[in-house]
Parts: sequence; structure tokens; C-alpha cells
Amino acid sequence: MPLTRLQANLPGLAWRTPARWAQEALRDSLALLSDHAYLERKAASNVLELFNRWPEPGTAEGWSTTLAGIAKDEAQHLQSVMRLLERRGGKLQRLHKSTYANDLRQLVRVGKGKQELLDRLLVSALIEARSCERFEILADHCPDKELAQFYGSLCASEAGHYAVFLKLGARVLPSDDVRVRWEQMLKKEAEIIQSQPPGPCIHSGLQCS
Ligand SMILES: [Fe+2]
Ligand SMILES: [Fe+2]
Repeated sequence: MPLTRLQANLPGLAWRTPARWAQEALRDSLALLSDHAYLERKAASNVLELFNRWPEPGTAEGWSTTLAGIAKDEAQHLQSVMRLLERRGGKLQRLHKSTYANDLRQLVRVGKGKQELLDRLLVSALIEARSCERFEILADHCPDKELAQFYGSLCASEAGHYAVFLKLGARVLPSDDVRVRWEQMLKKEAEIIQSQPPGPCIHSGLQCS
């Protein structure tokens, strides 16, 4: 069986989103684009926060330039989403509520030095992986060709970010520590994504069937 884009780029998330999620999320494609814009903005600001807080001795070589590259990508994604949204007559919704990333950030061991840094990198990797998975499902199930192509075009970029965050994490603490923490976080992420409310959001949950 040929590998899908996601399977080619990412190892397993602990829970896979079923295709019916895309039909539910696409019921309001403008609201989905608005949510997506906030997501890209948050991704850019998150990576700049990592840039600001950890350019210190002992941090992985190339740290700052790598993070600056991701920030540039996320700003470009934001611009692309905004262009699509505006061209289609949509607007950014004033209130943006997404508890997914906030719930994941509760897992970060704040104030614990390198453990905190590792956790922040792994949370970033998880968000990238889940976003990539969702974009792939949207690309495969969106009847609107332009939107489908747009979502498909983001998969490779987010998969690349996922790989970079994991790689940086692997340079923060010994590999056994990283692996154990990653396994814990994968399980937690699976619970968190499934507990999100349904709706037109990239990180929404499912309607009860
Ligand atoms: Fe992005
Ligand atoms: Fe990304």
C-alpha cells in the first residue's frame, strides 16, 4: 500500500483522526480559516518565545537560525491563510477559543531548566504533528479544489517543523529521558485532542456519533 504524505513523514501519533472530522470541520470553511490564521500566528509567536528565552551557552548549535527559519515559515503561512480568508469574503473572528494548545502547555515542567525546555520543544512537535495530520485529512476530503490544494501544501512544511523540534529536543537531554517523556506526551496529547469540543477548528474534537 502506498504511503500517504503523513505516514511518509511522521511516526505514529497515539490517536488518529477519522475522516469524518473533516466533513464536520468544513461545514463552516471560513470559520475554519479564521481559526487556522490564529493557529499560525500562535505558532510564530511561540517559536519567537523559544528564541528569546533560550539563546544560551550549551543550547544546540544553529538554535537561533533554525528557530528564525520556522518563525519565517509560520508568518508566511499566516499571510497565505489571511489572503484566502479575505479573498473569500471572510474575516478574522474577534474571539478565538482553542484550548488544545493551552491544555498541552499544562504538561510543561515550568521552572525546571532543561526539562522545561525539552517539554516546550516536545509540545511544539506535537502541535506540528497534529496540525500536519489535520491538514492532510482536509486535503484528502475537501471538495473545494483550491482549499484542498492549500491544505496539502502545508503538510510538508509542518512535518518539517515537527522533525526540527524533535531534533532540537534530542539535543537538550539524554536520549532515554527524551524518549520516555515523548511517550508520555503522545498519550496525553491523544486524550487532549479527543476531549476538545467539535466545530470548525483545526484542533477540534468530534461530534458524538
Ligand atoms: Fe504553520
Ligand atoms: Fe509549523
